[in-house]
Amino acid sequence: MPFDHKLYQSIIDEFTVSSDELKKIAANFRQDLRIGLRDSSQSDSRMLKSYVGLPTGAERGEYLALDFGGTNVRVLKIQLRGSGRFEVLKRVGRPLIVPGEYDHIGANSSAEEMFDFIAELVDEALDGDHEKQYLLGHTFSFPSMQTNLYNARLITWTKEFATPGVEGKIVNDLLSQALERRGVKNVDPVATINDTVAVLLSAAYQRGSTYIGSIYATGHNTCYLEPYNDSDDEPMIINLECGRFSKLTPNRFDKLLDEKSEKPGEQRLEKMVSGRYMGELFSMAVAELLGESEKSFNFTSIDMSNIIMDESISRENVKSVVKDRTNVELETKDCERLQTVASKIVERSARLVTSTFVGIIWQLAGDEDIKRQHIAIDGSVYEKMPLTKENINIALKELLGDDAKLIDTVLDNGGSGLGAAIAAAMSQD
Ligand code: BGC
Repeated sequence: MPFDHKLYQSIIDEFTVSSDELKKIAANFRQDLRIGLRDSSQSDSRMLKSYVGLPTGAERGEYLALDFGGTNVRVLKIQLRGSGRFEVLKRVGRPLIVPGEYDHIGANSSAEEMFDFIAELVDEALDGDHEKQYLLGHTFSFPSMQTNLYNARLITWTKEFATPGVEGKIVNDLLSQALERRGVKNVDPVATINDTVAVLLSAAYQRGSTYIGSIYATGHNTCYLEPYNDSDDEPMIINLECGRFSKLTPNRFDKLLDEKSEKPGEQRLEKMVSGRYMGELFSMAVAELLGESEKSFNFTSIDMSNIIMDESISRENVKSVVKDRTNVELETKDCERLQTVASKIVERSARLVTSTFVGIIWQLAGDEDIKRQHIAIDGSVYEKMPLTKENINIALKELLGDDAKLIDTVLDNGGSGLGAAIAAAMSQD
């Protein structure tokens, strides 16, 4: 049975964000920043201080970088050579979960097991060298409260992580204890930063004119360099944790997804835009169109990307992805409709993310003209999801008019690792 046309149209409408709405969201976001700078408990975004500014580009030395951002943990040995140059000397990585084998992120895992697993990886990166002393920078991509560059304390897990015993703890203490249990005495964790901060440090190290760093991947979040123009405070990067921003209009799919999630009511923007959740939103829309709302199909954002990219006459790829996930054989016309649904979800995501960038750009400019600048972004959605960059550019134009030409977004691939090494170097200043 072909899709019900009215239902299809209503789904498209629900994922459409008009220009007016976009402007309202950007203005609300800016307002939220202003309020948050005075009192972060009053804003949606957490506005967490990172205790680090921008690097000079001259940082040097050999450092270990731990990139703990999602299910894949990586440890890198990085040589900073100054003048924005660097070399990755060693890279090891492993997933925190292999279904059927082990799981360090579920509710039945433990903090000790998780950090022992990470300490093992750090040890692997050392290649048996237990003599040379290393400073370690840690990119830890979850909301953490800090009072200095070292002591990031996990406020709450996001991205459906549920490992008990880490929330409320200083993550580098857990890491140091695990390194001690393993007998690794030559590694000193000195800095913890959010992955958005890592991306900004990495981009600023390599090129100038970058004040905003963002992750657009499994999760979503942005940071920026707050100049503190009205006070004597030194400029400092603020990790917004704007995945929590909630002055938005969630549709019925967003509401349902939120109710079913690990942390209902939290991370409302992230649940509308990030890779971890876009596949779920799409799955719910497909289930409705197939008249099987009660079923949960596990479409991923990679499926969505494959679906959107299929330009074949008979939409063979769409048919096969849908058959794999739902066991239903679709007609070509309905495949095209599903492509539009997937595209709309991606378009909405890019538009919402851009409105937050523009809120920050307005905040940075204050009463002055907007400065020419890059926005550094890392993450699979930005890098690989079709339609994302185009929609970011369209939304920038809609919101900024001619000033949009002053802004470009740049991919900062691998910034999480490099940023951690830079933070380790900066901890010595
Ligand atoms: C976390 C942020 C992180 C983002 C991207 C969010 O779920 O709360 O700290 O920057 O994911 O990894």
